[in-house]
Amino acid sequence: MSTTHLGRIFHVAGRPEASDAAAALVWIPDGALVIDDDGVVSYCGPRDHRPTPQDGHDEVINDHGDGFLLPGFVDTHIHFPQTYSLDAYGGGQLLEWLDNCIFPAEARLADPEFATRIARDFTARRVAAGTTAAMVFGSAFPHAQDALFAETQRSGLRIVSGRGIQTVGSESSAPLLTSESDAITLTASEIDRWHAADSGDPSTALLQTAIVPRFSLSVTTETLAALGELYDGVRARGVYVHTHLNENNRPGTGEIDSVKKTFEVDAYLDTYDGRFLPGGRVGGSSLLGRRTIMAHAVHCSDTELARMAETGTSIAHCPVSQLFLGSGTMPWKRTLAAGVTVAAGTDVGAGDEWLISRVLSDAFKVHLSEPGEDSVSLHPAELLFTGTLAGARALDMEDRFGNFDVGKEADFLVIQPDRWAPLDSLLRHGIRADDDVVARDQILFALLMGLREPAITEVYVRGAQVGV
Ligand code: GUN
Ligand code: ZN
Repeated sequence: MSTTHLGRIFHVAGRPEASDAAAALVWIPDGALVIDDDGVVSYCGPRDHRPTPQDGHDEVINDHGDGFLLPGFVDTHIHFPQTYSLDAYGGGQLLEWLDNCIFPAEARLADPEFATRIARDFTARRVAAGTTAAMVFGSAFPHAQDALFAETQRSGLRIVSGRGIQTVGSESSAPLLTSESDAITLTASEIDRWHAADSGDPSTALLQTAIVPRFSLSVTTETLAALGELYDGVRARGVYVHTHLNENNRPGTGEIDSVKKTFEVDAYLDTYDGRFLPGGRVGGSSLLGRRTIMAHAVHCSDTELARMAETGTSIAHCPVSQLFLGSGTMPWKRTLAAGVTVAAGTDVGAGDEWLISRVLSDAFKVHLSEPGEDSVSLHPAELLFTGTLAGARALDMEDRFGNFDVGKEADFLVIQPDRWAPLDSLLRHGIRADDDVVARDQILFALLMGLREPAITEVYVRGAQVGV
């Protein structure tokens, strides 16, 4: 039996680079998405041309009327233990905000009851925002991570996550710290417990794990060396690495200068790139690779970008958060020209939006506002690409989801504009172009800018509706 969803379809087809997204944009106003029993796309095209079901096969039809069908959003950087931290303010920039607002908030997950509640709410917010896949920065507490994975499995969403590793820090981070040896054993046991726990095979799993040092300032050379060794042992199982890079460049006392001073490196990226052996000696194992995502990367040198491109390491671009914490603007043209995959991240709770399209909206604004020749007006297809297919690529799962190519697992959202009046009126009255292509681009831009959670009425992963 196959299931057919009828609606207005947008997706970015094939495997384009960001700059070619407009040419790869597919718009099917009278579309059909046909999904087989395994949740795989067997047809995406005009509804009148869809193949007739073979003899003896039923076709279930879901007619979404004027609804849009979009690939599921991919959030490549979101903090689970900061679910209730969206209003955290008064902390100054990054390092003060962490000490004053975030470490105390994350310490609350030591309480198992609180951890269960926050896991439930976090997952519900993901469903509401249509974030079908996410790289989730985890809690320090293993019971909270267990609650997160269990709740995610119950919902049917995809997740990659790992406990946040901290072995050194200020007094306010004390509840989140572990010894050097616990940092490794807790991470290794989380991987054993949850990596591909749903299917036993990482190539088909919805649940996957990551090694997540919070950032260089939260760990020692000892920890980084041991994590490099751990990664050597689990890389082949498809385990990920996730952390922060080059976010705050306040001179002298900010994150980047503190990293360079603490680790005696010229480049922040070096701290993750196999520089350290136990005892601080140089020459350990690198944490970079195709399954590594660096959040922010706002202030990278050309050398750092080239190294990320060379190793296949991706960037989670989080402009909502960068505005919230005064972290600056990632140079769009220079970063993409280096050949690094750039995907979108909410960075909740430095980001105060859960919806990836809100991240794309801020990306549009901040990159248009870059000075002089650096200013760029991102095409709506490039925005859609960044929030969907680029996310799948950053997660090294582009072969599995991210668009509606035949053979992909069907992750998608149903958007009903009439459920959010401002979006409905934008689409009804704001599209002026006579030209079909210009009208298409106006519709997609209005959809991405005007979308809010109430208009996302159904969310599917691998053809199955998710829920909490
Ligand atoms: N760097 C280290 N920890 C964090 C965090 O929780 N949020 C952000 N935005 N940056 C970080
Ligand atoms: Zn973050």
